Amino acid sequence: METHFYDYIVLGSGVAGLRAAIELAGHGRVAVVTKCFLGESSSEYAQGGVAVALSDDDDISLHIEDTLRAGDGLCDLQAVSTLVAEGPSYIKQLISWGAKFDMHGSLLEFTREAAHSVKRIIHAKGDATGHEIVRTLKEYSGTFENIEKLEYTYALDFIKDSPNSVACVIALNEKTGEISHYYAKAVIVSTGGAGRLYTRTTNPAVVTGDGMAMAFRAKAAMKDMEFFQFHPTGLHIEGAPAFLLSEAMRGEGGFLKNINMERFCTKYHPDGELAPRDVVSRSIFFEMKDTDSDHVYLDLSHLDRNFVKNRFPKIYSTCLEYGIDISKNPIPVSPAAHYFMGGIYTDDWGRSNLKGLYACGEAACNGVHGANRLASNSLLEGVVYGGRSAKAAVKDNGNREIREQDINITETITIDEPQTELEKIQISMWKNVSVSRDESDLDDAIEYLTQFLSQFEGKTPADRKTAELGNLATVGLLMAEAAKERKGSRGGHYRKDYPDRIKDNWHIYFENAEFSPIKR
Ligand code: SIN
Repeated sequence: METHFYDYIVLGSGVAGLRAAIELAGHGRVAVVTKCFLGESSSEYAQGGVAVALSDDDDISLHIEDTLRAGDGLCDLQAVSTLVAEGPSYIKQLISWGAKFDMHGSLLEFTREAAHSVKRIIHAKGDATGHEIVRTLKEYSGTFENIEKLEYTYALDFIKDSPNSVACVIALNEKTGEISHYYAKAVIVSTGGAGRLYTRTTNPAVVTGDGMAMAFRAKAAMKDMEFFQFHPTGLHIEGAPAFLLSEAMRGEGGFLKNINMERFCTKYHPDGELAPRDVVSRSIFFEMKDTDSDHVYLDLSHLDRNFVKNRFPKIYSTCLEYGIDISKNPIPVSPAAHYFMGGIYTDDWGRSNLKGLYACGEAACNGVHGANRLASNSLLEGVVYGGRSAKAAVKDNGNREIREQDINITETITIDEPQTELEKIQISMWKNVSVSRDESDLDDAIEYLTQFLSQFEGKTPADRKTAELGNLATVGLLMAEAAKERKGSRGGHYRKDYPDRIKDNWHIYFENAEFSPIKR
């Protein structure tokens, strides 16, 4: 077993993690620990863009207002104000590092997405914005000799040097099978969400809730776990993945139609296709029920063909592979799991309740998204809070001394047939803890996940697939418990047995690695 010492460790290599690593590079040796190849993350596949108040028609206060409205009253005003106010300078910095956003002449081109009151979304190569930002950050971080990228290295757990302080990460080298200990003054968790909990998701296979589950086991507080965002329009074709069909397609004038080719969104909300994302997903869900169908259509065939092809080149070519020409044919779509609003509870500097543990990006719950994230705020959150959590990690821990701990791994666990077990978890989550929930379904999920997790007690997973299952089940159970506790509906959390909107602005937390929700 090898032991390594760094000054700072970043877990994950999406936008938030890479941005954090760059900020840390001026302050010592940095390890970016990532379980796949560098950059493989939800960020890489983000299409629509980055919401940022940079256009002449926009204003910081308008972007704040839209974010708060979409968050359905559960955002943290301080965190939102920080995000929106610091966003423009973080984006200008990205441009100075080589990010190429789409331009209209010499000016950035802005588009509109649902629940934004003005055109404020910048994008790259039409619909490949996440890829462009990840590319930029990978290249720029590559210019720092003291950032070491540990690819195919899978973090299993944290080791603490006191009840309230993290000092080490245990990780498995996937190529050699060796377990190593990585010590650091501070660790930043940017491992993303947990979309792989669901049968239908826009997230890549690596998104398995690892950092959140590790933090919970280390007794970090978790917040808002009942709030998961379902994107209204994942491709719906038998046998195909739920490929994301960007909200920008509706922003540019696309219509949603039921299987009878009737528009239906205004029946559910006056803003129609451009209502907040949780509302549109539910509208589709209800419309599918009413028409006894498993999909609706996204239709752009009334728009100029060349515009559609040029504006959405990646979506155009991907759908064509499935025999759909998006400039001519309506596209079958249905909601798909997309983004986790809850996560590791942090302040607006990414600090968790444990010394030495920070979180940013989708793994964190810093309060910017509330009960429903405003479209295209996530890449912005990744760069802003990636930078801020790294600044705080340096400020708080610059002089911290780390000592080696006694670490004993006793019993290990291996799950046979992990793919079958994964599918069972996904089926349970999709049926019981997705767009519409009720107490009896939530109880089913809680019973199933509790039972599944019982085999992990006191044991360390021997391989990545087993560990991922344990992490997904942990996060799924936190979601189901929180969703059961919130007897009412709000943002992305809809209870069909309590459909009325809860008026009071309380949140649900989990503390001390207990699956018992605390309401406050
Ligand atoms: C999209 O392009 O619709 C995704 C953007 C986002 O999730 O913010």
